[in-house]
Amino acid sequence: MKRMTVPAIRKRKGTDQPLVMLTAYTAPMAHLFDPHCDVLLVGDSLGQVIYGLPSTVPVTLEMMAAHGSAVVRGSYHSLIVIDLPFGSYEASPVQAFESASWLMKQTGAAAVKMEGGAAMAETVRFLTERGIPVMGHVGLTPQAVNMLGGYGARGRSQEEASKIIDDGKAIAAAGAFSLVVEGVVEPIAVELTRGIDCPTIGIGASAQCDGQVLVAEDMLGLFERTPRFVKRFDDLAGRISAAVETYAGEVRSRAFPGAEQTYAPKD
Ligand code: KIV
Ligand code: NA
Repeated sequence: MKRMTVPAIRKRKGTDQPLVMLTAYTAPMAHLFDPHCDVLLVGDSLGQVIYGLPSTVPVTLEMMAAHGSAVVRGSYHSLIVIDLPFGSYEASPVQAFESASWLMKQTGAAAVKMEGGAAMAETVRFLTERGIPVMGHVGLTPQAVNMLGGYGARGRSQEEASKIIDDGKAIAAAGAFSLVVEGVVEPIAVELTRGIDCPTIGIGASAQCDGQVLVAEDMLGLFERTPRFVKRFDDLAGRISAAVETYAGEVRSRAFPGAEQTYAPKD
C-alpha cells in the first residue's frame, strides 16, 4: 500500500470522509495506529507526554528528529507530519526552512506543522513554494502558553474569535495543505471550515471540522490530564498498573517464573 500524500489529504476537503489523525512518538505505537489513520502527527506534545516537561516550550529539534524517525520506521500507510518545535521557525522564513528541511532529511517525514496565525503566513508561503508542505495550527497554540497564560478554550469573545478566523484564513491562503484548529468554540470551527479551501482538523473544535486529531496517550487513558475535549476510548493506565501489580505479586510469591518460562537442559 502506498503512503498517503499531501494532495490526497487536501482532496478530502468537503467530502463525507473525515480525516483521522493521531499523534505518535514511537515505532511500536505508530505501527499500531498506522492502519487506522490517514495522518500520524509527531507532535511536540511529546515534551509533556514522553519527557515529563511542563510544556512544549523546551522541546528541541533533536528530540523531534529522534521520535520522527522512529514513527516513519514504524509506519507505511499514514502521512507523517512533524511539529516544528518552539524557537526553531518563528524568527524568519529562512530559519523555518532550515529547521523544516533538516527535520525532513533526518526523519523522512513528508510535511511539517507550525503554530501561529497571520504573522506566520509569509513563512508558510516561503516553505510551500520551496517544496515543504505545511500544516497550520491556530486557536489554542500550546507553544504560546506563556502569552496565553494557560490552556483554556480560545475565541469566547467576539474579538478573539475574529482574530482566530483571520489567522486561519491567512495560513490557508499562504498555501497550508491543512489546518489544525485547537480548543475553540464551535462557531469558529464552522466559519473556518467553510471559509478555507484546505481541510480543518479539529482538537477540541467540535464535529464541524474536516477531520479530528487527539493525543494518542490522552484517548488511550495513558496520561493523567483530561481536557474536556478528550474522550477516553480506554483506560490503559489502569490496565498497565494492574498487570505490573500482578507481576510484582508473582515475583514476590515466587509464582513467576514458572516451569513454562524456564529453560531446561536437553537430557
Ligand atoms: O503536539 C501535538 O500533539 C499537537 C496536536 C494536539 C495537534 O500539536
Ligand atoms: Na504540537
